[in-house]
Amino acid sequence: MSAKNLVDRIYEIATRRGFFIPTAEIYGGLAGAFDYGPIGTLMKRKIEEIWREIFVLDEDNVWEIDGNVILPERVLMASGHVENFVEPVAQCKKCNAVYRVDKLVEELLNIPGEGKTPKELEKIIKENNIRCPACGGELSDVRVFNVMFPLLIGPTGRLKGYLRPETAQNIFINFNRVWLAVRARLPFAIAQIGKSFRNEISPRQFLYRLREFTQMEIEQFGTPEIFAKHPRFHEVVDLEINFVPAKGENAGRTIKIKLGEAVEKGIFPNEYFAYYIGKTYLFYKRLGIPDEDIRFREIPDYERPFYSKMNVDVEIRLSIGWKEVEGTAYRADYDLSRHSRFSGVKLAIQHNGKMVIPEVIEASFGIERTMLAILEKCFRPENYDRPWAWFAFPPYLAPISVAVYPLLEKEKAMVEKAKELYRKLRKKKVNVVFDAKGSIGKRYARADEIGIPFCITIDHETLEDDTVTIRDRDSKEQVRVPIKELEDILNKLISGSVSFEDIKKRYPLVGKK
Ligand code: GAP
Repeated sequence: MSAKNLVDRIYEIATRRGFFIPTAEIYGGLAGAFDYGPIGTLMKRKIEEIWREIFVLDEDNVWEIDGNVILPERVLMASGHVENFVEPVAQCKKCNAVYRVDKLVEELLNIPGEGKTPKELEKIIKENNIRCPACGGELSDVRVFNVMFPLLIGPTGRLKGYLRPETAQNIFINFNRVWLAVRARLPFAIAQIGKSFRNEISPRQFLYRLREFTQMEIEQFGTPEIFAKHPRFHEVVDLEINFVPAKGENAGRTIKIKLGEAVEKGIFPNEYFAYYIGKTYLFYKRLGIPDEDIRFREIPDYERPFYSKMNVDVEIRLSIGWKEVEGTAYRADYDLSRHSRFSGVKLAIQHNGKMVIPEVIEASFGIERTMLAILEKCFRPENYDRPWAWFAFPPYLAPISVAVYPLLEKEKAMVEKAKELYRKLRKKKVNVVFDAKGSIGKRYARADEIGIPFCITIDHETLEDDTVTIRDRDSKEQVRVPIKELEDILNKLISGSVSFEDIKKRYPLVGKK
């Protein structure tokens, strides 16, 4: 299936079945903006929970905050975003279309555009006679455009602010308050899940480039001595990742490297940085992304964000190419030092008898890009055996875990029994739906389309012996189990602690596929 076809198919199901709704769709929509529908909301929550398990709950000293999205201008001046968070643009003199010039140059000439100055880009445009791709018109001189959304706060309009372009800034400006509140000692980390905003020049590719998106960020505070050794490094030391170095004989090529070796050879600056790379790898594996579709790319100097000493991005192979979904950055003391200077409040912590401004390692994830990757990897087109498209989400990630069906809508006793079971499961916090409409085959197809892994059917036998069938989405096989054991079986199936294959060994298979 071509890339466009795949994205179109996913887009169609995702919008029809309530994963996403184009923002203000009834008014013609808004570029680069989607609302989460009911199914998407549940799935987003699942991704957040898995992230929280791995990066917050599995660690000893990580604290989560939830910051304001509106920030006064001083914060973003201190962070460097007012000056540096800019993209080079040129406008067509004929049709007024605006282009991000570094990307235009990359697309049309297949040469790197990022990191070049406006003057350098202008020269390339002139020398190669690049014109407006839409109408052939002449392009203007290159200017820089700040991609933050500016705001005027309050009725006088005199207080300038911005919607935050990254969640990280709330963590830095609240650093002193947090460590005092939780009596933290180095090393410790502050995490945050929340919305960020960027006035992207050309939002596109469905969920890939949005103007409002959700980040899950973690800022690890320490010192160079602390970062050198991680007490749990042994857990990731032997993990082998696909790595694309920016320098050396393998620059630009994918190599396999163990995290221990990457630290030994000085490729990664310290064990903490490598530990976060390892946890990030395990996170994407847990989301069901295959090994061969995950790579870690070291960002070359000319592409690296202004605040970072070293950046390694996670890229996932999507139908539209290898695309960034996460970035690990060694921000060192850039942010806390700048905020200390601009605010006059020293953002420092007691360490070994002195007040020190800590260094920072950051892991920054985008939920929507991660969701796009999951949707693509789990999409299964229709075939002879199953003439409808479906999503093979791992059960613990599926937005809805269970569907409960009475076999026949007109059989009152079956409907009542099914409703009773549905309500019972809901009380136990299982994500469950009830559906009585249409043939059972159509209901299974509807469930597959949003990736529901298990369907429970209440039939004639249920009324006689209190057993139900469980249909497994992936194999389409069914087993019959006693209702009294159902909750336990479902919990195990959904968490992944047992497989349907295991269940098949213990309970009789029923019906045909
Ligand atoms: N605090 C560091 C930071 O914000 P970034 O590489 O600019 O770093 C981190 O962004 C992640 O946020 C990206 O890897 C991506 O997943 C997500 N992201 C950034 N811009 C985005 C956009 N316009 N649309 C969707 N996701 C975006």
